This record gives sequence, C-alpha cells and structure tokens, in this order.
Amino acid sequence: MRSNEEIKAAVQERYAQAAQGQTGCCGPSGSVTFQVAGYGADELKGLPQEAVGGALGCGNPLAFAGVEPGQVVLDIGSGAGIDCLLAAERVGPAGRVIGVDMTPEMLRRAEANAAAAGHTNVEFRLGEAERLPVADASVDWIISNCVINLSPDKPAVFREISRVLRPGGRLLIADVVAEALPEQVRADLTAWSSCLAGAISEKEYVAGLETAGFADVQVVSRLPYEIGQIAALAGAPEAACGCGAASEVGADDLAGKVRSVSFSARKPGGANGPTIRAAGAADLPAIHELLEEARLPTAGVADHLADFLVAEEAGRAVGAVGMERAGEVALFRSLVVRPGARRRGIGERLFRALEAIARARGVKRAYLLTETIEARCRAWGFTRVPRETVPAALRASPEFTGCCPASAPLMAKDL
Ligand SMILES: C[S@@+](CC[C@H](N)C(=O)[O-])C[C@H]1O[C@@H](n2cnc3c(N)ncnc32)[C@H](O)[C@@H]1O
Repeated sequence: MRSNEEIKAAVQERYAQAAQGQTGCCGPSGSVTFQVAGYGADELKGLPQEAVGGALGCGNPLAFAGVEPGQVVLDIGSGAGIDCLLAAERVGPAGRVIGVDMTPEMLRRAEANAAAAGHTNVEFRLGEAERLPVADASVDWIISNCVINLSPDKPAVFREISRVLRPGGRLLIADVVAEALPEQVRADLTAWSSCLAGAISEKEYVAGLETAGFADVQVVSRLPYEIGQIAALAGAPEAACGCGAASEVGADDLAGKVRSVSFSARKPGGANGPTIRAAGAADLPAIHELLEEARLPTAGVADHLADFLVAEEAGRAVGAVGMERAGEVALFRSLVVRPGARRRGIGERLFRALEAIARARGVKRAYLLTETIEARCRAWGFTRVPRETVPAALRASPEFTGCCPASAPLMAKDL
C-alpha cells in the first residue's frame, strides 16, 4: 500500500510534466482520442489550440450537463482548462466558472488558455479536491473530468463536492472506473498517476456519491476501453503513451475491467423539482394541451403513450416527452415544458430520463427533429445528420412526415 502523500506527490509530478508539454496519460495526448472523450469538432472549433492540445480528460462532462446562462460552475482538476472554457461559453457573461487544480504548472497553463480565449468569467484556483478553496453552497454545477480516480481519499472529495454545491445543485463527473484491479496495479505509483490504480468500480462510485448524500445518482454514459488504451494506462512499453507503470500485469488481464463512465447526481434540497414518471391514459389530455400550447404536433401521441413521460408538480403535468420506437431506433419527440416552469432544468431531466428508458428498451440510436433547440440537443450529445439517413421505419411516422417542416434539422445520437 502507498501512503496518500506518496500518491499525491506522484500525481502532481506527473501533471507538472504534462503541463510542460511532456506526455500525460489519461487523455487524448496519451491514450484516449477526442472522439472517445466525446467532444464534437464544432465544440472545439473556437478554443485556443493550446487548450485543446492540453486536454487530458476521459469524457466530456458538459455534454451531459444542463449548464445554463448565469450559473456558477466549478471544474475539479481543471488541468489546462478545456472544460472551463467550454463552460464559460455556456454560462455567458452573467455566469462564472472556477477551475481548481493542485498542480501549479497546470494552473498557469489554464490561465494562459483562458486569456487566449478572451474569457473574463473564468478563474483558476490552486487547491485540492479534498479541501476545495470554494465557499459553502456557492456553486450550481460541479464538473470533473478524469480526476477523482487520482485522489487517494475519494470520500473526502465527495464530501467537499456536497459542501460547495448549493441545495438542488448538480454534478457531472467523467472518470475512469475499474473492476477488481490486481494488487500490483493498486500499489504502483505510475499506474496511480496514469488514472488506473486509483480507479474504483462503478458500484463503489455510485455508493460513494450516495453516502455523501447525493440524490438521483445515475450513470449517463459508459465508454469501454480497448486493450491498446488499457495498455497505455497500464504502461505497456509499446503503448503510445510511453509512461510505463512497470506493472507485471498485462493489459490482457485488465480487458473488460476498465472504462470511462460519466455520473450525474443532485444535491437534495433547493426548490423541489417535479416528479418524472411514465405517462398513463389519464395524462393524454394534459399532454395534448401542453403540445398545443407550444404549437407542437399531437398526432401519434396516443399510439406511443407507453413511451411517453410526464413531469408532474403539485398534481399537474408541467412537461412531457416521448419517443416513437422502431426496433433499435427511435424518434424522440414532443419535448415540452409549460412556460411558467421553464429554466429549471425540467426539459433536460425529461430528456435524460427518456434516454435512459430508450436504452433500457433496447434502442441503440435516437433521432430527433428540431427547429428551436438544436444547440441544447448538441449539448446533450446529438449531432446533425442528413435527412436521407433516417431509417425507413421512422420516416413513415406522422411526426416525421407531416408535422415538422422539411427544413427542420435532423439530429441523431448513439445511445
Ligand atoms: C488527467 S488530468 C485531467 C485534466 C482536465 N480535467 C482535463 O480534462 O483535461 C488530471 C488533473 O487533475 C489534477 N489533480 C489530480 N489530483 C488532484 C487533486 N486531488 N486535487 C486537485 N487536482 C488534482 C492534476 O493536477 C491534473 O491537472
């Protein structure tokens, strides 16, 4: 076993080197490509090259977070700042982004990148995830990308996240998780700094967040690592990353045990949100009313009611969403929130819940047509695709054929 101090020192040394342009292993410059990490080319277009090149994450937390203008976002282990810069665009001039990192060299790089991007709503603070230099209940969103695995005291990190989030605030954490790692790997300091040795299992992660008091703890994405990527994390000599963990355990022994997972959760309290639940026959009139009020099509809702959800508050439907399924594909549709209930993240909650249900019902790819919320759908991981690519079974649906103008962009996402 290694002491917490030894682990911290090894991690800090590794990321000081990475900040100075030497290799880092958790992210794209090491083993994981941008595509795997989940950034879209469009998202990265406006960022300084230095910030993109310095990314070392294993996911794209903002792809799953409903960060809105005016909010305060904290990025734990902000590295060279890629996610802070993306968050700065989302929160706009009325919002604020704080990046915390324990490696001074990383902080300097992040500050230079924020200056190059011209963002004045981002600040970086030197500090540790286990003792965040952030006031109690002061943050709307916490994001973190491939960092918490590096902490030897994860319960302390989860407690700190809970302390600084405001009641009702949310987190979106992308991280490496691993099942049953051999002891040699767990004791290897290089494997610690490579984001492998400190990785806990998905179950332990969920339990850790729940123990810290979080509600609605969910896994929102899983990206399994291939052998070559694990080899890079484990430090096989031939691995592209080249920072060997000197472990005697080969990548083959780790196959299927290591992946990048994104978790979402909510700190209880704050304004109570509505309950999201499956729609029943009694909800049909309310769903029609919501859609008519928003000038959205109602055709086909009754036929697909079993795949509809409603958001209910004080006994009243304040939002709805649904899908038309055809085997392994589905057309998401009818996302609507009553005007008085907007800007509270209800639309995103409905959408996330629908995605989870679609996945559970065997849907592999979701499509949607939108004229009004393309940017939000992009933030939720959808990308524009040509209309000809929609599967024939969906093209025949009333939503697709009759109700949306031919100019409405078609978007798709693999679930
Ligand atoms: C793998 S890099 C990820 C950087 C960034 N999130 C990204 O996606 O590019 C890990 C970062 O976390 C920082 N870090 C590691 N352990 C930390 C801790 N306990 N407290 C604060 N920062 C930490 C490192 O200094 C490094 O910058």
